[in-house]
Amino acid sequence: DQTAIDFLPTLDSLSLPVLQKAAANCKACDLHCAATQTVFGSGPADARIVLLGEQPGDREDLAGQPFIGPAGQVLNEAIEKAGLVRGELYLTNVVKHFKFKVSSAGQGGKRRLHQKPNSREIRACRPWFDAEWSCLKNADILVCLGATAMNAIMGPGRKLGDTRGRWIETDHSQRTIATWHPSAILRSYDADSKSQKFQQLVDDLKFARDSIL
Ligand code: URA
Ligand code: SF4
Repeated sequence: DQTAIDFLPTLDSLSLPVLQKAAANCKACDLHCAATQTVFGSGPADARIVLLGEQPGDREDLAGQPFIGPAGQVLNEAIEKAGLVRGELYLTNVVKHFKFKVSSAGQGGKRRLHQKPNSREIRACRPWFDAEWSCLKNADILVCLGATAMNAIMGPGRKLGDTRGRWIETDHSQRTIATWHPSAILRSYDADSKSQKFQQLVDDLKFARDSIL
């Protein structure tokens, strides 16, 4: 199977803008066919903390920016409550094209419904994140948002509920941490678990913040 390696610029000229330009043309898996555009990571090249999500959603696909839709609003709130500044973080996703299926026209008309990326798509896209990480020279804290990012970075077979909230040493950083994905918070219909997960997301981001001070 093809991977993004075939679309990476030469290694001696790597910078985030160069990578972003190359990723815009990536066709290493089929997800580029139906999606609008590649949604690359966003944030300053000297960021200390990197937040890694799953894949762009409907709004991100249209805008070309990560975490600007409903999940992004939850994330913004958690970032602020944790005493962090979004503009100082680097935000990106494991998979850079939106994967969706179109719902049959129901009440709200046709909608593009999020679908989980499979392991082949995650593997195909992985070189983009590894290249981003290598360009982020000051990054030493990696926050995996949700199970897809956690399993991609920490290996399969982990449960988020057991793993979240503490450092796990990975190939990327000794200080890698997993926490709830903001979409999981939006989806939890039980109000108690919703507010508990949100608070844990805030606590995990605080934990990350406190270790850079
Ligand atoms: N969910 C993600 O994982 N990433 C985004 O950019 C938006 C929603
Ligand atoms: Fe390339 Fe990733 Fe898009 Fe697949 S999802 S085409 S690997 S950028």
